[in-house]
Amino acid sequence: MGAVEEAQVSEAQIAVHWREEEYYYPPATFIAQANAADPAIFERFSEEQFPECFKEYADLLTWDRYWHTTLDTSNPPFWKWFVGGRLNASFNCVDRHLAKSRNKAALIWVPEPEAEETKAITYQELYTQVNEFAALLRDFCGVEAGDRVTFHLPMVPELPVAMLACARLGVIHSEVFGGFSGAACGERIADSESRILVTMDAYYRNGELLDHKAKADEAVDRARELGAEVEKVLVWRRHAGEYGSQTPMVEGRDFFVDELMSDHRDKLIEPVSMPAEAPLFLMYTSGTTGQPKGAQHSTGGYLAYVAGTSKYYQDIHPEDTYWCFADIGWITGHSYIVYGPLALGTTSVMYEGVPTYPDAGRPWRIAERLGVNIFHTAPTTIRMLRKLGPDEPAKYRYRFKHMTTVGEPIEPDVWRWYHDVVGKGQAVIVDTWWQTENGGFLGSTLPALKPMKPGSCGPGVLGIYPVIYDEQGEVVEAGSGRAGNICIRNPWPGIFQTVWGQPERFVEIYYEKYCRDKESTAWRDWPYFAGDGAVQAADGYFRILGRVDDVINVAGHRLGTKELESASITVEEIAEAAAVPVMDELRGRAVEMYVSLKPGFSAGSDVEKKVAKAIETEIGKIARPKNVWIVPDMPKTRSGKIMRRVIAGISNFADVGDITTLANPEIVDEIRQQVQSEKVARGETPRELSPEEMEEIKAFGRE
Ligand code: WTA
Repeated sequence: MGAVEEAQVSEAQIAVHWREEEYYYPPATFIAQANAADPAIFERFSEEQFPECFKEYADLLTWDRYWHTTLDTSNPPFWKWFVGGRLNASFNCVDRHLAKSRNKAALIWVPEPEAEETKAITYQELYTQVNEFAALLRDFCGVEAGDRVTFHLPMVPELPVAMLACARLGVIHSEVFGGFSGAACGERIADSESRILVTMDAYYRNGELLDHKAKADEAVDRARELGAEVEKVLVWRRHAGEYGSQTPMVEGRDFFVDELMSDHRDKLIEPVSMPAEAPLFLMYTSGTTGQPKGAQHSTGGYLAYVAGTSKYYQDIHPEDTYWCFADIGWITGHSYIVYGPLALGTTSVMYEGVPTYPDAGRPWRIAERLGVNIFHTAPTTIRMLRKLGPDEPAKYRYRFKHMTTVGEPIEPDVWRWYHDVVGKGQAVIVDTWWQTENGGFLGSTLPALKPMKPGSCGPGVLGIYPVIYDEQGEVVEAGSGRAGNICIRNPWPGIFQTVWGQPERFVEIYYEKYCRDKESTAWRDWPYFAGDGAVQAADGYFRILGRVDDVINVAGHRLGTKELESASITVEEIAEAAAVPVMDELRGRAVEMYVSLKPGFSAGSDVEKKVAKAIETEIGKIARPKNVWIVPDMPKTRSGKIMRRVIAGISNFADVGDITTLANPEIVDEIRQQVQSEKVARGETPRELSPEEMEEIKAFGRE
């Protein structure tokens, strides 16, 4: 059977198997109070109104100077939004709320230890802290507009303070997720050429006070190896005046922030008026090849986009208590814990620790105590809470009007538990599909105006016009039951501006595939390639199937196979390595590594441990593989390329597909025998895969 025929058969089968889920309708009480309850909003954001429709989002902000051009497409795909405008993000998130809401909580921080007191930070206090930290950055560190500063901070209020302090100065911040290793942080420092690292001595995670400063030393060393010298490391202390790390402070390089702050007490820093197009921050993310890339986000377009989507899709009103249970080290936290909610002047809750500490009732106790009415989290957290405490939500008196799921596909079953048990059948749910590169939501239902459908994110959001293309660039029609590559036909204000320092990769990765005419300055010729597979139902709702590139989404964290493989081959014994996703009940996907040894070395459990350790050192604990399989050889094409989809098939007990093009087809059975019998022995046989999951495995690592 030819490849084309084979593809058609499998697509037809999918069309038969994909079960349509029933709609759920928003409660009348929600509709009555919603920010977007009039269907006229769809008209205002229709394609005919593009790009001027986004004025509505930009007008949620306070501009120092109004812009003259909404969208400049003269140098595609480097779109410019709100050209001529000037503003300051820190002013928009803090200062402008003082007149009315000085004494209202901007942030409520919940430490992980339950005995420790919750801290409410008013807009006035936030203003003071942001100013003082900005003064320290400017006067002590000598940074100015356009410089980069790297943070490696956990979920503590000092993180939004540091972000807003940078924004106040026009300094570009680059936060590295606290769970990443020191080495991973060092690589990001070097890539962004930051001279300053802001970190914390320690933080709580699962009941343990983790030494975090140790990672700063590793980060500085790695950055130095890569040719970047960190001049100053600013260390916040988790407990004032008490140092929670075992690592010594380095004289002349490391400084305790609480000690320095007294020199900057009550200093006020005038917010620097920045062009709309000035970069606000970098967020590193994994992609198809090579090292993580720095997605560069703008000030005006980004802030307008997160404010607008927070208002209409999160339905945030200033008097709501909004809790996005995500980490600020990821884009979700930047957009929907810090910038979006604070731009709207609401109260944003932050929690330091893990969902199930000390037990699976913790999130619901927090929600009850603080009166949280909007809740936002990822499927991984929902799955975990469902598994460990399916009946816990009913024990608490909180009441959500609105809930979000983000970051991974959510299984309809898990969705229903979220709706019925966590939401008590009374909250609307938005399933928001988007990416680090996008700034804010791309696909979601508008909660008061469109019904929900478990497992589908919904249509494109306001002002976003998605399309599914096949490999040849033909449109895959809604309702055809066929999967393809989801793209966005138009630019939008939240789209990142470039890959930091690598504009050619920006064009190549996101625009080359479907660009119709490279000479054209019409945005219609430049669809954005998202790198996700999707199907569109007849009602226009999208179901996202997952990445079509070599990215594994573990618990909502994007990990590049290339990064995992490079880390593995730092182990002396390893000749070759391949990373594949395996279905995981809690994390959605987990990583399995296949490695082959150099001649003269023999397999043993210490090799497995070394590989796991190397991954932890190079990337971080979140990337630890579920299994490391030491195999005699990898299945390869005649040109020597490792066929990841074949080993992904083995790991998931799925069809390995066509192997006739392999140089060594006999190895497939040998590996299958080895891996699957061991998995059966360990009780790791997977449940039956859904048609979507089967498609994902088949597409994994495709050429
Ligand atoms: C996946 C997170 C299904 C997708 C905001 C995307 C989703 C990647 C959803 C981006 C969703 C995100 N349903 N899949 N609602 N949201 N994804 O950059 O594969 O960390 O490409 O951004 O997560 O992950 P990132």
